[in-house]
Amino acid sequence: MTPRSTFLAFMLSIVSLAICSSHGSDSITSNQSLSGDQKLLSVGGNFVLGFFTKNKTSSKFYIGIWYKRVSELTPVWVANRATPVSDITKSLLHISKDGNLALLDQSINSPVWSTNATIPSNSSTVAVLQDNGNLVLRDAVDSANIFWQSFDNPTHMWLPGIKINFNKITKVSRRIISWKNSEDPALGLFSNSNLEDTQNVLQWNMSKIYWTSGPWNGRIFINLPEMTSQYLFKLTFVNTSEESYFTFSLLDNTTTPYVAYVMDVSGQMKAVLWVETAQQWTQIFAAPAQCEVTNFCGPFGSCNEQSQQHCSCVKGFSQRSPKDWALRDYSGGCVRDTPLQSCNGTSSDYAGEGDKFSHMSNVRLPNDGRTMQVGNDDECLQRATKNFSDKLGAGSFGSVSKGALPDSTAIAVKKLEGLRQGEKQFRAEVSTLGTIQHVNLVRFRGFCAEGKERLLVFYYMPNGSLDSHLFHGNDSVLDWSTRYRIALGIARGLEYLHEKCRECIIHCDIKPENILLDVEFNPKIADFGLAKLLGREFSHVLTSMRGTIGYLAPEWITGLAITPRADVYSFGMMLLEIISGKRNTEQLEESGNYYFPAVAAVKVTEDTVQCLLDDRLQGNANMDELIIACRVACWCIQGLESQRPTMGLVVRMLEGLMEVSIPPIPSIFRALVIN
Ligand SMILES: *[C@@H]1O[C@H](CO)[C@@H](O)[C@H](O)[C@H]1NC(C)=O
Ligand SMILES: *[C@@H]1O[C@H](CO)[C@@H](O)[C@H](O)[C@H]1NC(C)=O
Ligand SMILES: *[C@@H]1O[C@H](CO)[C@@H](O)[C@H](O)[C@H]1NC(C)=O
Ligand SMILES: *[C@@H]1O[C@H](CO)[C@@H](O)[C@H](O)[C@H]1NC(C)=O
Ligand SMILES: *[C@@H]1O[C@H](CO)[C@@H](O)[C@H](O)[C@H]1NC(C)=O
Ligand SMILES: *[C@@H]1O[C@H](CO)[C@@H](O)[C@H](O)[C@H]1NC(C)=O
Ligand SMILES: *[C@@H]1O[C@H](CO)[C@@H](O)[C@H](O)[C@H]1NC(C)=O
Ligand SMILES: *[C@@H]1O[C@H](CO)[C@@H](O)[C@H](O)[C@H]1NC(C)=O
Ligand SMILES: *[C@@H]1O[C@H](CO)[C@@H](O)[C@H](O)[C@H]1NC(C)=O
Ligand SMILES: *[C@@H]1O[C@H](CO)[C@@H](O)[C@H](O)[C@H]1NC(C)=O
Ligand SMILES: *[C@@H]1O[C@H](CO)[C@@H](O)[C@H](O)[C@H]1NC(C)=O
Repeated sequence: MTPRSTFLAFMLSIVSLAICSSHGSDSITSNQSLSGDQKLLSVGGNFVLGFFTKNKTSSKFYIGIWYKRVSELTPVWVANRATPVSDITKSLLHISKDGNLALLDQSINSPVWSTNATIPSNSSTVAVLQDNGNLVLRDAVDSANIFWQSFDNPTHMWLPGIKINFNKITKVSRRIISWKNSEDPALGLFSNSNLEDTQNVLQWNMSKIYWTSGPWNGRIFINLPEMTSQYLFKLTFVNTSEESYFTFSLLDNTTTPYVAYVMDVSGQMKAVLWVETAQQWTQIFAAPAQCEVTNFCGPFGSCNEQSQQHCSCVKGFSQRSPKDWALRDYSGGCVRDTPLQSCNGTSSDYAGEGDKFSHMSNVRLPNDGRTMQVGNDDECLQRATKNFSDKLGAGSFGSVSKGALPDSTAIAVKKLEGLRQGEKQFRAEVSTLGTIQHVNLVRFRGFCAEGKERLLVFYYMPNGSLDSHLFHGNDSVLDWSTRYRIALGIARGLEYLHEKCRECIIHCDIKPENILLDVEFNPKIADFGLAKLLGREFSHVLTSMRGTIGYLAPEWITGLAITPRADVYSFGMMLLEIISGKRNTEQLEESGNYYFPAVAAVKVTEDTVQCLLDDRLQGNANMDELIIACRVACWCIQGLESQRPTMGLVVRMLEGLMEVSIPPIPSIFRALVIN
């Protein structure tokens, strides 16, 4: 089975309705109403409003707004979040007598939701669904006279144009609030709002702040630079005497119209983008790390960043409500399996077997709240690796061993060799590495610098490195969509290193061995920052290393300056291997001596790329994606670094957001392919 990312599962699992617009209008006037399957359609055809449910057997229906052209029904706003109706044919969205837009449940003959605005009695109103997803209740005659709008009352999504404001007069911030669980849009426990000092924060139960964006420096949030993306959207801060607010706009709303922030049921704020070629929402970023969400796993729950289902119960406890857990609501936590026996005040109880404290290692209590967090043990982790006996691999920069913390949490420990710098400098460099976090980078856990010993500690990635999946065996051939997702993830990780970190980091050693996979086959780039850590030693070793040379850009050999485009070249080489499932250096059986990248470059110019696909896939690949991947790879391996795209552009091209033209045959291969 193809492992898939489970983020936004709540959106993906929504059962789609037959989208037919029998109402066919973008507005409701005082003599109209909407009921049953009827829908409003915005003028440009971007958004639909109507009844939806994600689970028809539960008969809970909501009025919502969703994207017309996104094939997965994705509500961006919900009216009656906490008051569903059970029979849509007996429910009516209409302009009530007081001029408000209201939802009437005729089966109980009672209004279940209303815009509840103050409207002058002599005014006649109309509700209009605008093409940006905003539902506006305004004066029927004077269109500038707006009484209420959904953009001022957002639910769980922050769309372009919505202002997350702080009202300086009432001292209240607008809030977007998570769903209760993956099926139920009722108010959940997690919310996003602004603090007066312009920080964007996440809060649990409207009280405890568990994440802050850090101050706005005029361009970015200090703690989350990727919250503003140079390609997709632009975040703006506005400060007036009445309010301050953040809003964002899309840089290109024709090719990338579907970008939104969502306050997810996971308690994470996520930025997501609909990728048409993949027919899937992909995550641009999520903050904070899952286990840093307050009370995420509930009482007696423990959170583990590394496991696929983050929450589990501590020993001796079981899920209070497995039904809620299945819907990704862990807030009920866990309950004791057997009641405590002793300490009950009656002496007879003491005679029996008393209760004892159970030792739990490698777990830390949360700073606040009640969920424990597994991990965070920075101790020099030789004992943990059984004297480095369980080697995962050895590179020229040192060996990597698998180890375990006392509670058997797996870690990977890299022992650096050939490092000349002193302890102080090492600590300084490594501390910088520790601040770099991205879903597509291996997470750094700690380090040791004692005497001559230099150890780096990382989260262990159970599914090994990409090379073992690409080049070995027949049983577990990576399918095309997983390969494409892996390529895109690697590109995003590199884009982050090159363009989003405070200091640009050139990886210098991109190859399948340095791409690790987590349980869901999400790629994580390993060994970033080593080039900097090892300095001159690094380039020396790198260029003389067997097995790496095939990925090295010509400038490594010609001695020109190394820029981020050197990584782009290596990425291109690796992308060809992801496509073909073979080492570039392997000879092609039929074409004799031809070097695969050169053959690929020719096929790309001829636009006959099908034959480049790994034949174990038997042609099972999305052809559009295959063409994109092949073209991107060939652009990346151009001999002149100025002809190669930046990683940012690579990401855009792989996401299908940017046309990829046919690249020229790289100059270095022309000699190989001319005859
Ligand atoms: C509904 O009301 C609008 C004005 O409010 C009017 O233009 C329209 O003709 C009315 N439609 C019907 C079917 O009565
Ligand atoms: C829908 O809801 C019903 C009743 O709450 C539940 O039994 C069923 O498992 C749900 N179905 C899905 C697909 O979630
Ligand atoms: C409607 O608004 C009034 C104040 O204008 C408020 O007191 C009341 O609670 C609101 N009702 C609902 C259902 O939101
Ligand atoms: C409605 O009444 C207000 C005063 O309450 C007045 O200012 C306004 O002009 C009136 N509008 C119309 C359309 O009569
Ligand atoms: C794109 O921007 C234009 C101009 O700002 C606007 O009219 C249009 O509605 C926007 N489209 C979407 C899908 O938001
Ligand atoms: C949230 O806070 C309210 C008080 O503001 C409290 O009554 C409620 O129990 C809290 N919810 C949880 C899940 O602790
Ligand atoms: C916002 O404006 C107020 C004055 O209206 C000023 O005191 C405050 O420092 C400004 N905040 C920021 C973050 O610029
Ligand atoms: C104490 O003992 C009573 C009676 O045996 C029992 O009902 C109760 O649950 C016990 N209390 C605890 C904390 O275990
Ligand atoms: C690790 O090595 C030391 C000394 O070389 C030895 O005493 C110890 O038993 C070894 N530990 C393991 C787990 O092999
Ligand atoms: C990937 O990891 C999962 C979970 O640890 C494991 O069940 C599976 O066998 C692994 N697959 C490979 C090919 O290593
Ligand atoms: C893969 O399968 C092919 C034929 O299906 C077989 O010839 C080959 O030996 C297999 N390779 C491995 C590594 O099992």
